[in-house]
Amino acid sequence: MNLQVIRGTATGIIQQAGAEVMLYYDQPHTETTKSSMFDIVTEGDKASERLIVAALCEAFPDHHIVGEEGGGMGAPAEEAEYFWYIDPIDGTSNFANNIPFFSISMALADKNLNPLVGVVLNPVSHEIFSAVAGQGVTRNGLPIRVSDTESLSQAILCSGFPYDTATQKRINVDAFMAFLPQTRGVRRIGSAALELSYVACGRLDGFWECRLNPWDCMAGILLVREAGGKVTDYQGGEAGLTGAELIASNGLLHEAMRTVITANP
Ligand code: IPD
Ligand code: CA
Ligand code: CA
Repeated sequence: MNLQVIRGTATGIIQQAGAEVMLYYDQPHTETTKSSMFDIVTEGDKASERLIVAALCEAFPDHHIVGEEGGGMGAPAEEAEYFWYIDPIDGTSNFANNIPFFSISMALADKNLNPLVGVVLNPVSHEIFSAVAGQGVTRNGLPIRVSDTESLSQAILCSGFPYDTATQKRINVDAFMAFLPQTRGVRRIGSAALELSYVACGRLDGFWECRLNPWDCMAGILLVREAGGKVTDYQGGEAGLTGAELIASNGLLHEAMRTVITANP
């Protein structure tokens, strides 16, 4: 399997999906709610996923596809060696409010959740981040690297919150508050895939979030690792990450971030 060729195919598909999504951007939306009243899906999400899934089924008929809006598609999961994790719009709330920070995320992983190819596109800014395991990462074709920030006091971190804020106690506010007085700033951009891309290119020094799903983070995990950064769960484990707990950093800040996050569950 030639992963560079697969990256090329995924890049072509994500660009088409980006053009499709932009047809719906800055237009009146039809929204429906999903897991909670804050968790919405628009016609843009559905159109993007339809396009991506159709293209992946044609290009890789023996791969299984996990799409946020459609569940499992493509080859049956029990028979497949390779899995695609697709977020047709990551940052739907931004998209629906015409805030130009959202992305499309596609990742190929093996059965053990090791990401092999990752591509993230912001169709508004035309920035595309892509990586192949062991073969580097680029933004719009040029190599990128994580930041070299060594202390929290010089760092800009980023995080996000799950949709069950109305019903769950552990919603990440304590860690957010704990980082505020220790850092240059803490951001919430609203698209985990984009936030991980920003860690990969050094705009952000670190990112953490809990209760993400593989489609939110699988591509971004690979981008950060290939850019020289580190991605673990809250215990420091690097294998089989699902997004249930995620810390992504430039590596230098990783343990300092982990200490604050675990002390503020
Ligand atoms: C969401 C975004 C957001 C994060 C949420 C995700 P969606 O994905 O990535 O930044 O905080 O946890 O669910 O719903 O816009 O695809
Ligand atoms: Ca998402
Ligand atoms: Ca989504």
